[in-house]
Amino acid sequence: MTAPAGFDPADPHTYFHRVRERCPVRRDVTPSGRVTWYLTRYADVRHALQEPALGRQVEPPGGDPLAMVRRNVFNLDPPDHTRLRRLMAPGFGARTVAVLGRLVRQRVSDLLDAMTTGEADVIADLALPLPLLVVAELLGLPQEDRARLRRWSDEMLRTDDPARVRRAGVAFLAHLGERIRERGDQTGNDLLSRLLRAERAGQLTRHELLSSVFQLLFAGDETTVNLIGNGVLELLRHPGQLRRLRERPDLIATAVEEMLRFNGPVGHSRPLHAMADLKLGGETIKRGDVVIPVLLAANRDPAAFADPDVFDIGRDPNRHLGFGHGAHFCLGAALARLQAQAAIGELLARFPRISQATEELEWTPDLFLHGVRRLPVLLESA
Ligand code: HEM
Repeated sequence: MTAPAGFDPADPHTYFHRVRERCPVRRDVTPSGRVTWYLTRYADVRHALQEPALGRQVEPPGGDPLAMVRRNVFNLDPPDHTRLRRLMAPGFGARTVAVLGRLVRQRVSDLLDAMTTGEADVIADLALPLPLLVVAELLGLPQEDRARLRRWSDEMLRTDDPARVRRAGVAFLAHLGERIRERGDQTGNDLLSRLLRAERAGQLTRHELLSSVFQLLFAGDETTVNLIGNGVLELLRHPGQLRRLRERPDLIATAVEEMLRFNGPVGHSRPLHAMADLKLGGETIKRGDVVIPVLLAANRDPAAFADPDVFDIGRDPNRHLGFGHGAHFCLGAALARLQAQAAIGELLARFPRISQATEELEWTPDLFLHGVRRLPVLLESA
């Protein structure tokens, strides 16, 4: 998606330090003539994510291949956002997290059983199978749907062809419709069932339901894969911290928070739209301008973090913005944490020696989702 001119996905942090020092609220004009502001300071990013004059409910410019699913929890403003979020939040409650925790740990264990010593790819062999297991379970979809979800998610996230994105989107929506019909009145406690009951009670429309569920594929899949991929990569790049985590496995929770801060998987929040003129970080933003809070940049701001470029798996407190901030703070944060903690913690427990198999990494080119396509490693048992 959006990236400012000169951005290098392999090393966004050097780039954003330079931007923050020279021009912390950076103005760009897109080829279509829209003024876009990139925020790189922690304080400005937090402010923008709570600023009522910055909304989301605006038609994006240009052809949006997924315009058919625009009204959803990510893109709405209050009061519609508040209503939808209240209906969805109980589906992410403590019981769900506990059940999914057991499932995820079992799946991690099975995946690691299949990884022998020698070369492996942390992305394909460990990270990629987890999130769709979680999304399917969260929605109460049968696990046999996982392969199809994987195909549609790949088509939508990993291709640049709008026609393919659209086709995959239509196929996923049709499938969801079919699964809903099959259920009839037999609904349970999963998220989809809760939303279906709310729809019957007139609390949300079918469009809002399908759209919000649909967006979970974007929200929960590549983000989690990249948290695990980027996280393992940072451990390999910082052998002292890797050793420390092996000696103190109880640091896994703070380690994952540091992975979210240091090189998190989400570069920026959804673009915000100025609904009125406003002042932000000393600049005047005009009505109609777009504002992009760059989470990656905020998380390395020296005004907010001591030694921001030091990767410290014990960092505490760590008020990073990797899951966003304010009313749209990530609903799946607990699920993302449990997957990363289980996958990375257990990978280290199983393999006493892990090293990077190649320095050549292919980073996703845009700024929205930040990660590598493959992470080849060498695994040794002693
Ligand atoms: C929203 C990050 C995993 C569901 C967000 C936002 C961020 C984020 C930054 C706010 C976006 C904005 O303000 O525009 C992440 C990261 C993840 C992750 C870094 C993994 C490492 C998940 C998972 C799920 C999920 C696993 C669910 C299965 C959501 C939902 C929202 C959201 C529903 C929208 C909340 C709202 O708009 O009110 N996430 N996410 N996320 N995330 Fe996550």
